[in-house]
Amino acid sequence: MPTVSAPPPLAARWWTAPCCALWLTLISLAGALAEQPAAPDSAPAGDEAIPPAKSKYKGREIAVTMHYLGAPWLVRESRQREEDCARLLQALDVKPGQVVCDMGCGNGFYTLQLAKLVGEQGSVLAVDIQSEMLHLLSERAKEAQINNIQLVQGTAIDPKLPSGSVDLILLVDVYHEFSHPQQMLKAMRQALKPRGRIALAEFRLEDRNVPIKLLHKMSKQQILKEFLPNGYKLVEQFDKLPWQHLMFFERAESP
Ligand SMILES: C[S@@+](CC[C@H](N)C(=O)[O-])C[C@H]1O[C@@H](n2cnc3c(N)ncnc32)[C@H](O)[C@@H]1O
Repeated sequence: MPTVSAPPPLAARWWTAPCCALWLTLISLAGALAEQPAAPDSAPAGDEAIPPAKSKYKGREIAVTMHYLGAPWLVRESRQREEDCARLLQALDVKPGQVVCDMGCGNGFYTLQLAKLVGEQGSVLAVDIQSEMLHLLSERAKEAQINNIQLVQGTAIDPKLPSGSVDLILLVDVYHEFSHPQQMLKAMRQALKPRGRIALAEFRLEDRNVPIKLLHKMSKQQILKEFLPNGYKLVEQFDKLPWQHLMFFERAESP
């Protein structure tokens, strides 16, 4: 179950240029509910001190966090066809018995599939800052009778993962939303086992044909600019997804 109190309200957004009436309705509803940045300016009483959210990191504008009302988009029928999610999963080379983290899991599109791949001997740590996303995921896991998922409500600076314990941290369309990228990179690094990996999937900024708003895309160059100085080395790249980069990082020798 979530381990900390509810997160701050988050602003809505939409990703693809062609948006239908349903999306407009969702967006205006979400916008009416909350038009605030992803992280608060100061921490709520009793919580750890969260510094003000960054709007830029190393020259890149940080995107606003996707609101949970947008969750149906994450499990849309066309996602497999558009993003070839099965191929992404295969490229991760997840093994039975592993401890895998789905960072920024949303309503669990990848979490449920990862849970099957690690099997009963393994586990999936599903981390998100929005309790509503975790609730949606728990309902889906219950319905699918999957029991090896641990829900973790992180904060903008702390994913609350046990130190040195994770074989793989998967981030799909999440990293570009981190309001505190440096703190998150540090915390994820601490959570990895010595040969543990990060698998980062981000929509390709270099490719004009990827129909996603620029703010929600990243270039390889920018990704390296952010990961390498934060104690990571690039160990593998998978360039066969239709829309996304998939880059694998391990801890560099020294932070
Ligand atoms: C676009 S959704 C992607 C969900 C999922 N990875 C997928 O591909 O279906 C991004 C998610 O990242 C979460 N998120 C944003 N910042 C986060 C942070 N610092 N720690 C954990 N989750 C975060 C958001 O709440 C949202 O649910």
